[in-house]
Amino acid sequence: MTGFSIHPTGAALGAEIRDIDLRTPCDAETLVALRAAWLDHLVLVFRDQNITEDDQIRFAEHFGETVGARSKDRTDGGDRRLMLISNIRENGEPIGLLPDGELMFHSDSVFLEKPLLGAMLYAEEIPSTGGNTMFANMYDAFDALPEKLQERLSGLQAVNVFDYETQVRTGRFDRAKAPHATHPAVRTHPETGRKALYVNRLMTEEFVGLDAGDSDALLGTVLAQAENMDHVYEHVWRVGDLVMWDNRCTQHARKDFPGNERRLLRRVGLEGDRPY
Ligand code: SIN
Repeated sequence: MTGFSIHPTGAALGAEIRDIDLRTPCDAETLVALRAAWLDHLVLVFRDQNITEDDQIRFAEHFGETVGARSKDRTDGGDRRLMLISNIRENGEPIGLLPDGELMFHSDSVFLEKPLLGAMLYAEEIPSTGGNTMFANMYDAFDALPEKLQERLSGLQAVNVFDYETQVRTGRFDRAKAPHATHPAVRTHPETGRKALYVNRLMTEEFVGLDAGDSDALLGTVLAQAENMDHVYEHVWRVGDLVMWDNRCTQHARKDFPGNERRLLRRVGLEGDRPY
């Protein structure tokens, strides 16, 4: 018996999973049902959990191989299969990545040959206001485009670049230093077979084979659709939330929050495939 219940958020994606305790391992039947719910709703929210780092890793491993932090990203001696996302500072240095304020829409690690399949964030400390994470449904974003634009985009590749120090991009990254990868502008989800828009504001710089003017204009049109609030679920964090997202068909962004309040989340990534 799976036992849990599924409560859709009412937005374009996302469902809350209730009546499950992530401190204990899931049985095979529960896992099959959770995976199906994940593929249906793209983002799953588990409220009021009280899990250790080991619990979080064990839960993540139910869904694939975990990808953790680079050595320089986790200097507190904790388990490097987990990455900290935090503005807390020790000796003046943030203890985690992506520390402060707003973070533009992106898909995780799309600047690598094999971007993450998905990821899970667990909330340890949350500011009294702000810092909500917005998740956008890229199936819906693609489906909402005019057919001619869908056809044009389906034949295009896009270059994705990222500098780990940047959360709000204002210009081009230096590709000599910043990791980058070229991927289809529209990807096919390997499990559902559905098409998802696969360009984002933080990391996608240009379409291959278009001149700069055409590329910028097209990117502007497509990003407006990707970020249309009709496709978005906004998660208001509480301590003890675990949120997992399918990185192949969603993108996410963070809203600003007070710099003098602590925010600490633990993230585990799941290894992905090369998009097609
Ligand atoms: C992330 O993009 O992994 C971090 C999102 C957040 O801090 O809300």
